[in-house]
Amino acid sequence: HGRITKICCIGAGYVGGPTCAVTANKNPDVSVTVVDLSESRIAAWNSSTLPIYEPGLWEQVQGARDGGADRPQNLFFSTDIDKAIDEAELIFVSVNTPTKTMGAGAGLGSDTSYVEMAIRKIAQVATSDKIVVEKSTVPVRTAETMREILKAIGKPGVHFEVLSNPEFLAEGTAIRDLLAPDRILIGSLLNDHGLQAAAALAEVYARWVPRERIITMNLWSSELAKLAANALLAQRISSINALSAVCEATGADIDEIAFAVGTDSRIGPKMLKASVGFGGSCFKKDVLSLAYISECLHLPEVAAYWQSVVDINEYQKDRFTKRIIRCLYNTLNNKKVAVLGFSYKKDTGDTRESAAISIIDALVAEGAKISIYDPQVLESQIWSDIEKFKGARGDVKQYVTVCKDVYKACEGAHAIIVLTEWDEFSNKQIRKRMDWQRVAESMDRPSFVFDGRNIVDAGKLEEMGFRVECIGKPGSGWFKG
Ligand code: NAD
Ligand code: UDX
Repeated sequence: HGRITKICCIGAGYVGGPTCAVTANKNPDVSVTVVDLSESRIAAWNSSTLPIYEPGLWEQVQGARDGGADRPQNLFFSTDIDKAIDEAELIFVSVNTPTKTMGAGAGLGSDTSYVEMAIRKIAQVATSDKIVVEKSTVPVRTAETMREILKAIGKPGVHFEVLSNPEFLAEGTAIRDLLAPDRILIGSLLNDHGLQAAAALAEVYARWVPRERIITMNLWSSELAKLAANALLAQRISSINALSAVCEATGADIDEIAFAVGTDSRIGPKMLKASVGFGGSCFKKDVLSLAYISECLHLPEVAAYWQSVVDINEYQKDRFTKRIIRCLYNTLNNKKVAVLGFSYKKDTGDTRESAAISIIDALVAEGAKISIYDPQVLESQIWSDIEKFKGARGDVKQYVTVCKDVYKACEGAHAIIVLTEWDEFSNKQIRKRMDWQRVAESMDRPSFVFDGRNIVDAGKLEEMGFRVECIGKPGSGWFKG
């Protein structure tokens, strides 16, 4: 393979959009075309209102998409999938791989049908050799399936080389993660064709990533390494959350525990923040996928081990909800409860698997009147998540309102529940914070704050008259000695 000059990316989502914007910016001589089945998504990428919110994304997209005096236009968003495939030398597949909802492995295994659809498309339309790169997170050995389909359907004389190149970006910090990745992982077959293809892809990244951070290895290791990384990260959160329950029962403080263990250089401080439970489109899906793969490989003990990471996460959400109900004297009927934060983490408008969804569902089932405020999540998104509620008796709009103003959301409420760690909710921050004193004066009494993210200074709020309950800490009712 020579140098890559044309790249196609199938899937213009949270991964495809940002990765291609950065790739195009860093490779001004390479033309990058991102394609998708969804016309509205492509239209949004071509507009001034991008389909996803991500700090720094606009600058990356605008630079390469619109060009300028000092740089060419080399980033394109299109629905002409066939044309983009055939023109490219290298094709990223970054379509969604959600958890299966029906059939064998429903609720556990990954649905690879979108990947297969994309692969079949590539095989049908390609008239010249292609490097096909798995960027989606897939079950280990998916590349084997891809190779088989490409070979069976591809035109005679056209060679396909399949690489694995999993993506490690986290939402909210996607651009930062893409500009300065801990590592780039490229898996290939270890024969001449495979190694040459891996080298060609490495060349694209080497424009901005130091060589020693571009790691190559065998295809299957690379595929499994992605699932392993997410499983280990999620496992750390479930471990700290399991410990938070012990803290609440003993008077120990989970933030102090995390600090104490995190200073051990073998453990390290990251991903040890206790919370109401992890959300996002990846952790649960990928841990369950790993558990299901293990089960299919007749390794039930391994499957049970990874399953427990997800079980603890469900337990944590449930535990927090029960604590709220208990503190509010075991009845929420017609009580106003303000929910601050609906996204699954700060700095993103994404709500996939957000803990807020199941917690609000449970509170609605108790008869609470919920008012939601989130600085980024679109109101239409909140309604579409809430529609799926099981708890509501009758129309969910009788129970839930969405507020554009944090003070409106809190006015007259019995309790505030912080579910996303947006900076503006913290009373530790000097700037951009909300006025908790103003909120205190507008609420019903006794006024509770349930901090599902441990971002408030509980002492200061208690001075204002709040009763405060944090994750993994003794609450306001606890005898402090
Ligand atoms: P997404 O749902 O945001 O985007 C996927 C896009 O692919 C959609 O716009 C969909 O319309 C399109 N698509 C599906 N099938 C198609 C086809 N056959 N042809 C053309 N377009 C098609 O998903 P995402 O969050 O970008 O995730 C993509 C993959 O990357 C998943 O496997 C995910 O596990 C993995 N991943 C995601 C993240 C993350 O933070 N979101 C991080 C690392 C890895
Ligand atoms: C994750 C991985 O971090 C990333 O490498 C992978 O590519 C995709 O999945 P993401 O889900 O976007 O990224 O965000 P992440 O920052 O990992 O947070 C996931 C969830 O865990 C969030 O709900 C977050 O609030 C929660 N979390 C994170 C904790 O509860 N405690 C922590 O210490 C860290």
